[in-house]
Amino acid sequence: MKSYSVALIPGDGIGPEILREGKKVMDAAAGLAGITWQWKEYPFGAEHWLKHRKGSPTLMSEEDMARLGTHDAVYFGSVGDPRVPEHVGQAGGLLWMRFYFDQYINLRPAKLLRGIESPLRGKQPHEIDLYMVRENSEDFYIGLGGYFKGTKNSENLELLRPLYQARFKVDVDLEPADEMAYQIGLLTARNSERVIRYGFELAKRKKLSRVTVVHKGNVLTKIYGLWIEKAEEVAKDYPGIELEFTIADATSMWLVRRPEWFQVIVAPNMFGDILSDLAAMTVGGLGFAPGGNINPDRKAGVSMFEPIHGSAPKYGGLNKANPIGTILAGKLMLEHLGEECAAELVEQATEDVLGAGKIRTYDMGGTSSCSDMGDAISDRLLQLKP
Ligand code: NAD
Ligand code: IPM
Ligand code: MN
Repeated sequence: MKSYSVALIPGDGIGPEILREGKKVMDAAAGLAGITWQWKEYPFGAEHWLKHRKGSPTLMSEEDMARLGTHDAVYFGSVGDPRVPEHVGQAGGLLWMRFYFDQYINLRPAKLLRGIESPLRGKQPHEIDLYMVRENSEDFYIGLGGYFKGTKNSENLELLRPLYQARFKVDVDLEPADEMAYQIGLLTARNSERVIRYGFELAKRKKLSRVTVVHKGNVLTKIYGLWIEKAEEVAKDYPGIELEFTIADATSMWLVRRPEWFQVIVAPNMFGDILSDLAAMTVGGLGFAPGGNINPDRKAGVSMFEPIHGSAPKYGGLNKANPIGTILAGKLMLEHLGEECAAELVEQATEDVLGAGKIRTYDMGGTSSCSDMGDAISDRLLQLKP
């Protein structure tokens, strides 16, 4: 019997309750798939930081991070708590994990399931069914920049990545004196190439015919000029798949006007962040949206699965949040581990429960709890045959 060792990080706010329901459904799926899970829970989050790491810029230590890398996958709730500076949980936790394990793909599917009413009028089940492939390690997310007051500033900035190391020396002369802040965005050819290729391979695997590459190359000509060039090169290897370019602002308009057009969208990190929340809303809201932070080479780095939403602190501990984003992130985890059949059954069970319309969390206009939803989906899963 195959066994997978998975790190659980419940985190903050609604994180613990949604992850509890995700784990419940994964436990039910294990029986169907003939696998076992070895769960190991880690306490990284606000409480842990306040008690053991206060003042540190990171949520966990370097050794903690390395330990996460010994697992087959990481299953993550969400982090973010008003008592802890934002950058600790994000730059010093979530983003650190994405960069440390070179999880260069952020896969965020958006599918309108049976029983969910899209806020867009007249959409039928599965009419909206797209894969957002968000570039996950570069762009304006690298965290390098500076701030100064006066006329002169000099910074030595360093970007240390599994794929490369880059050093910048930035000298600014400013007249007249003022305050200035800047942030560096960059893309490398190697990273752009592998992200766009992942999008095309995904289209091929799912028998789709179009890949839409998002940019803003009309304005940010250097960074997205390179991105466009790589997309054109990669597309040549996939003659049966159409390459389409869209500009980021217009993409947001099209996602509202005609989301059913999109099959695979490949977007640089920041546009992908914004467009994936928008895509999620077209299929019911943030509570339904899963994400996989993926290093496709399992030996090179562990992958991490989470809902795309945050810790929604005002709902934390109320057993109210919708756990479906987390449950479907579990589906992505099963797929990543090669358990395709169990993955499909998780989606089917979720859709059966939603379609029946009895269990509805508050964001669907209902009164069911987070655990009601997790119970219903795991019970339904146990009735399905592999
Ligand atoms: P959020 O995603 O936490 O919540 C925004 C709103 O979306 C909520 O108020 C709620 O109305 C709705 N929502 C989110 N998840 C839901 C669910 N499962 N069920 C029902 N409704 C849901 O975003 P925010 O309020 O901007 O951020 C709160 C904190 O989360 C911040 O600290 C932020 O940095 C952090 N954050 C963390 C992650 C992560 O851990 N991956 C992602 C995004 C934001
Ligand atoms: C997400 C979140 C994160 C991001 C933040 C919390 C760092 O919004 O996972 O989409 O911007 O990537
Ligand atoms: Mn986001």
